[in-house]
Amino acid sequence: MTQYDYIKDIAKYGLENDYEKLFQALNELVDYSKKSNKVNFAIQLQSILKESIRQQQVSGLSIVGSPKHILKEDERELADLILEKLTSDYRLKDLVCTENVISELQHFIKEHQFLDLLNKFELPVSNKVLFHGPSGCGKTLAAYVLAGELEKLMIVVNLGAIVSSKLGETSKNLAKIFKRAASENAIIFIDELDSLGKVRDYSQDHGEMKRVVNTILQLFDYLPKESLIIAATNQINMIDEALRRRFDLVLELEKPDERHVKELIDKTLQSGHFVFKNKKEVNDIIKQSLGLSYYTIQKTLITAIKRSLFEQVDKDAIVTVINAQTWKELIAQEQLNLAK
Ligand SMILES: Nc1ncnc2c1ncn2[C@@H]1O[C@H](COP(=O)(O)OP(=O)(O)OP(=O)(O)O)[C@@H](O)[C@H]1O
Ligand SMILES: [Mg+2]
Repeated sequence: MTQYDYIKDIAKYGLENDYEKLFQALNELVDYSKKSNKVNFAIQLQSILKESIRQQQVSGLSIVGSPKHILKEDERELADLILEKLTSDYRLKDLVCTENVISELQHFIKEHQFLDLLNKFELPVSNKVLFHGPSGCGKTLAAYVLAGELEKLMIVVNLGAIVSSKLGETSKNLAKIFKRAASENAIIFIDELDSLGKVRDYSQDHGEMKRVVNTILQLFDYLPKESLIIAATNQINMIDEALRRRFDLVLELEKPDERHVKELIDKTLQSGHFVFKNKKEVNDIIKQSLGLSYYTIQKTLITAIKRSLFEQVDKDAIVTVINAQTWKELIAQEQLNLAK
């Protein structure tokens, strides 16, 4: 069967309201997509299917307080706490960082690719990683890279929402998300882990912070081997020491040095449509950019590219020369902003 045959079946059974056959055809399409290397599509489709089955279990009217009613409320709450569910196409080659970080990430990825082997010899699996470092240096990107390399669904947790809403329920809500991720074989990505520290500010009850951290510690300690947690923070000092210790891997993503800026430029210009004329000029700007984040350097370069494109007389030219002076001025402005 080809992809089109599955789509025809799906349309047919869907229009005939034959749910049993529809689900069967969708499951077959998931298997087919996995085999034909459309893994991300397969993961997304599978997640839609699971979600729909769950929705069916809780749909319709229900008596307040009945198990079905409680399940329904749970679903709604959970939806508020999950920022998004995604698959990713990012790979290690997209991340510019030190050799050490790359090699640690490669080892971490291997642990999950060879999970069966580790299980066979009852060896422990590293499954909790914490990224830290300044803003705009690739923490979120690194999480996407792991999801892409491991070809897994990633659940992005809205920790701010968990912590600020219904404080007393934070622990319960976290437990629910961990359970859901395990059932979907998904990665949990807790961005801005430091918002946990804010519990102290929100709460009159100072014991709340301890309770939340304790829950996380417990969830971490009883995490199934195949589950995976990624967390990120730009305030590592805000993270409770006991929590920090639980991570198998703590990686710092630092600001770029000259070599890294060069690599970032090469990656940004890899399509070949935009080039610099004068190498010396570029090297000067690279030196001038030190201290800025990857994000800021890339953003200013893209702005310079767009302006060069607008200035260009021949709008159909295949290759555009980037106005280095424009980029230089943008970098200078960013350095000024940083110094403020
Ligand atoms: N190390 C890097 N290699 C390549 N691109 C990067 C890197 N760091 C940042 N970028 C670029 O900047 C964008 C923003 O980076 P990212 O969101 O990962 O930063 P962050 O460290 O999570 O920052 P924040 O602490 O503000 O959340 C990325 O999508 C990417 O385009
Ligand atoms: Mg981030």
